[in-house]
Amino acid sequence: MIKKLLFISFLLIIGCKERKSAVKGLIAKNGMVVSARVEASQIGTDILKQGGNAFDAMIATKFALAVAFPFAGNIGGGGFMVYRLNDGTTGTLDFREKAPLTATKNMYLDSLGNVIEGKSTEGATAVGVPGTVAGIFEIHKKFGSLPMEQLIQPAIDLAKKGVLVTEKQARRLEHYKESITKISSDTVLFAKNFSAKDSIKYIELAKTLEVIKEKGKDGFYKGEVAEKIVDFLQKNGGVITLEDLEKYQAVWRKPVEFSYKNINVISMGPPSSGGITLAQIMKMIESKGLDSNHNSVKAIQLITEAERRAYADRAYFLGDPDFTQIPELEITSSTYLNDRMNSFSYEKATPSEEVSHGNVEIIESDQTTHFSIVDQFGNAVSVTTTLNGAYGAKLYSEELGFFFNNEMDDFSSKPGVPNMFGLIGGEANSIMPEKRMLSSMTPTIVEKNGKLLMVLGTPGGSTIITSVLQTILNVEEYEMGMQEAVNAPRFHHQWLPDEIRMEPNSFDKETIKELKDLGYFINESNARIIGLVDAVLVLPDGRLEAGADKRGDDTAIGF
Ligand code: DON
Repeated sequence: MIKKLLFISFLLIIGCKERKSAVKGLIAKNGMVVSARVEASQIGTDILKQGGNAFDAMIATKFALAVAFPFAGNIGGGGFMVYRLNDGTTGTLDFREKAPLTATKNMYLDSLGNVIEGKSTEGATAVGVPGTVAGIFEIHKKFGSLPMEQLIQPAIDLAKKGVLVTEKQARRLEHYKESITKISSDTVLFAKNFSAKDSIKYIELAKTLEVIKEKGKDGFYKGEVAEKIVDFLQKNGGVITLEDLEKYQAVWRKPVEFSYKNINVISMGPPSSGGITLAQIMKMIESKGLDSNHNSVKAIQLITEAERRAYADRAYFLGDPDFTQIPELEITSSTYLNDRMNSFSYEKATPSEEVSHGNVEIIESDQTTHFSIVDQFGNAVSVTTTLNGAYGAKLYSEELGFFFNNEMDDFSSKPGVPNMFGLIGGEANSIMPEKRMLSSMTPTIVEKNGKLLMVLGTPGGSTIITSVLQTILNVEEYEMGMQEAVNAPRFHHQWLPDEIRMEPNSFDKETIKELKDLGYFINESNARIIGLVDAVLVLPDGRLEAGADKRGDDTAIGF
């Protein structure tokens, strides 16, 4: 019997070793860009090779994604950047979309107070004031080392030359063709049929990018492009005005920073919920100690219960910090989080209906894309940007060559009514003119012993935070390499609905049965993918290992 056990343990150890070494991401010595498309990663890396820094590469990659990845890469949306300079300085830039000046709290409700289906998700009524171009110019002003023309030109050239359609993209285009046609008409570029290996030229987008190249930020927010945007949106029933565009500003904000065991996590603060919710979950896990077996029943239970409690807080406390007072220190303190976990037990699931937000006294006073860059100087940037839904509001301007976001759906249209990601919210995330809608985007950087360890992030709506969480835990707790950590099966709980969403056919049947017996509701349906994590890990010898998510077309290029 003992011999048999020893033999099984031996096999397991060998299995683990093999599994660890079998999957390796791209390794590079100097710099690396990991993004949703090979063309964008290549353009970003070329900029690094030309002597540009991570911020220059960020700008070039972002413009390239706007061309090569219209599904989510954009100039009609917004996002967040977290950075860490080689001297350890950290910071973040918020270029999230804003509600237009004429927005009102109940703008998506009918006369009976019910949410009007589609109004916050499709067409011009769903569009928030875009922030991407303002963000790019703000980054360039503060950190850019190469001229903007050099950073934008590769995207213009790519748009004119044409971009190859991948298998996955062809399937997506086919899937969304009907809704794009319904909203944007059957004459737009994306109303055509495309197959894998076709090449798409983006001539109109190239023209818009040329204006931005020539006129800078004002090339988008003022003048002919701005006028065309406003005209187009208003003709389609939208309310964004020239004043909205002109007033848009990206904002530098302090990151959310916290420790978990030996690592220091630097992530995005409000108006993204990412950093605070990640901090809450990781601190709750730390207080109980995570089971040493990856994706074991106990590990899934602890992570799930921490997620359940953190997402309940998210729905209540979080919103735009310029409009809502957020008790960040209180709800990330150990005392508060230990108290939140008092009801936790490995014996049975805590039903979500028994969980609500914690008590803190407040004193008055689908589609997204992530990319990670480390440059040859040791600077790191982590950027997640979004159109919200796939192709945003599905509203494509043929004249300007880009899709508009449907970010307004990230607001809470009505307290307690779920948005397209099933997230609910309250007063903190209600609609007000010029307010930023709450996000889940979690561009993150991890340090260990004062040095850069990891750069990561992902799309995935409400699952973003939990995908980032699991990837960090996979590396830190389960000693996986970067690619292996990205590949590992993921699960997700967001308080409501009360279910663990699991990647289908990825989890052990016995594990699922045990979880069900403990009172957990399991959803293994393949409705939405759980994240597309693009990440870079600094190996002990200083080289970089990429994790490019195989669930998409994501690709790492390094040198
Ligand atoms: O900001 C947010 O949290 C959402 N708009 C992100 C949407 C998203 O990730 C869609 N991608 N799958």
